[in-house]
Amino acid sequence: MHEQMTVEKEYSEGRTTFLSADVDHYSGDKKQPTSSLPVFYNPRMQLNRDLSVLFLMAYMEKHSVEMMCEPLTGSGVRTLRYLNECPGDFYAKMCDANPLAVETARRNVETLGFDDRAEVIHGDAKVLLMTESRGKRFDFVDIDPFGTPAPYLSAAVQSISPKGGLLAVTATDMPVLCGVYPKIALRRYGGFSARAPYTHEIAIRLLNGFIYSVAGSNDCSMEPLAVLSTDHYIRTWVRIETNRTESNRQASKLGIIRYCTGCMHSDFVQLSSKVQNVDFDHKIKGCAGPIRVAGPLWIGDLFKDQFLSNATKVLEKSEMEHYHRKVPDVLEKMVEESGLTNRPYIDIHALCDLHNFAPPKNQIIIEKLKEQGYQVARTHFKPTAIRTTASVEEVTRIIANYNAR
Ligand SMILES: C[S@@+](CC[C@H](N)C(=O)[O-])C[C@H]1O[C@@H](n2cnc3c(N)ncnc32)[C@H](O)[C@@H]1O
Ligand SMILES: [Zn+2]
Repeated sequence: MHEQMTVEKEYSEGRTTFLSADVDHYSGDKKQPTSSLPVFYNPRMQLNRDLSVLFLMAYMEKHSVEMMCEPLTGSGVRTLRYLNECPGDFYAKMCDANPLAVETARRNVETLGFDDRAEVIHGDAKVLLMTESRGKRFDFVDIDPFGTPAPYLSAAVQSISPKGGLLAVTATDMPVLCGVYPKIALRRYGGFSARAPYTHEIAIRLLNGFIYSVAGSNDCSMEPLAVLSTDHYIRTWVRIETNRTESNRQASKLGIIRYCTGCMHSDFVQLSSKVQNVDFDHKIKGCAGPIRVAGPLWIGDLFKDQFLSNATKVLEKSEMEHYHRKVPDVLEKMVEESGLTNRPYIDIHALCDLHNFAPPKNQIIIEKLKEQGYQVARTHFKPTAIRTTASVEEVTRIIANYNAR
């Protein structure tokens, strides 16, 4: 039997202990999961799962969750953590196409004593999202695939309760989303990706834009609650509601991003049924581009303040040692940047490279901008970047003055 051949290991994450295939044994020198891993578990995604646990608790402060589904569950770790670490007695449907993963996840469910709150189903995620939600639709769906989540999103949206629900989605196809393969991004996410100093923000906005369109085509609206960006993946948490009127209203949140490689100025331009001639306002006199374009994508807010403030309260009440050391810092930065996502972040190092400036410490720029009355925040997207109400021209001027001292 397969199960006897799999070399397993006991892992602990958060407050949850579970078994999975031994990552070190199967990955050799690489020390991270490879395709030879019989059951998928990536310890490096702990930050993703920690925030997912925290955000589910934050969501449950306002909305009830009775039934959830994780259709690509692997070892089951993510849902096991929801069941074990979040309050309430919601029921979980976990699925995987890999019979070994199903067998492992079933054993983990049993060992942790969740037989009456969870079941693990073998089969294809798209099919199971549709069939398993027939009796009672889901209040929470978590899509965490290899690579792109795009093929699962229509079934995911349709499986969500008509009363509304939480949808969390990870994407790891970063070369596509970050401008290496813009045409594939257009095919998968309905918008061109682009290389830019804030390429991860473009990635998130493409994913949110695509979720908006999929939700809209199913008469649903999409409200962003939070996003997470790291080098290896992006993740978004949105609330889906059956609400055509709201979805129509949100059409103004779909647009394109334009970015000048000459002066680093960016702007958002709404998509509109009226033909518009919107001139690009280069922020440096005489600059003529070239200008890159990304989208169509989501140009609306990326975070909801109330949601993040609930997450902060939950974190303050939690035992920190169970979480990845980065969690408090990431959440704090999300709270800071939350009100300033109406334009992309500015990467100070990229701006300094462009003008051959020595980069000052971010904190110095932040203070100078505040002195001049601008709003400014750090961003969890990048340690070298800020969000501000100041234009890129004003930020450039402050750095130039600092360099001229
Ligand atoms: C990235 S892993 C999931 C990791 C898991 N969510 C976690 O947090 O550890 C993706 C999983 O999807 C499964 N899978 C791939 N294609 C599938 C499909 N069409 N239907 C169901 N499961 C599928 C794989 O076997 C794998 O276990
Ligand atoms: Zn320019």
